[in-house]
Amino acid sequence: MHSRIRGQGWVANLSKFQLIHLCKRFFSSLFARDISVEEFSRVHSILSVNEMDLWKSYQKFDKRHSIVVLNRLNAFMPHAGREVHVAALLHDIGKSDSRLGVFSRVIATIVGPRTGRFSRYHHHEEIGIELLEAAGCSEVTISLLKGIGDPQALAALSDADNI
Ligand SMILES: [Fe+2]
Repeated sequence: MHSRIRGQGWVANLSKFQLIHLCKRFFSSLFARDISVEEFSRVHSILSVNEMDLWKSYQKFDKRHSIVVLNRLNAFMPHAGREVHVAALLHDIGKSDSRLGVFSRVIATIVGPRTGRFSRYHHHEEIGIELLEAAGCSEVTISLLKGIGDPQALAALSDADNI
């Protein structure tokens, strides 16, 4: 029955790995801790005014995720520069555009880009690049988020986000 539904295109073809990842992200988002004053200050010390405005537009669970990714990046690449730190903090900024909550994101991931907001969620990477360009982000940061640049930084960002 399940495979028949998939065959009819009602749900996206998610691999076992993607389903596990989806569950992990769901629960970590649901129970995301508030951002501490120290964490906020640290983010503020890295981002420009425009970049900070973008970061503030994240929902709480995306703010938490961005800090987790930054911490993991620092573990994988302790000498990473500011541009890489900005990429870690703002790599999911395009997700803010759709304004989907935790539950809606799960549904959007399962059913695919069926509505305007779900479609924008599925195109969050391209939307994020546009937001970062409009905010005047450095070319190095934008290139990294397009998958272009220092291979070590790209690998560290990918590993840091692979939660
Ligand atoms: Fe992420």
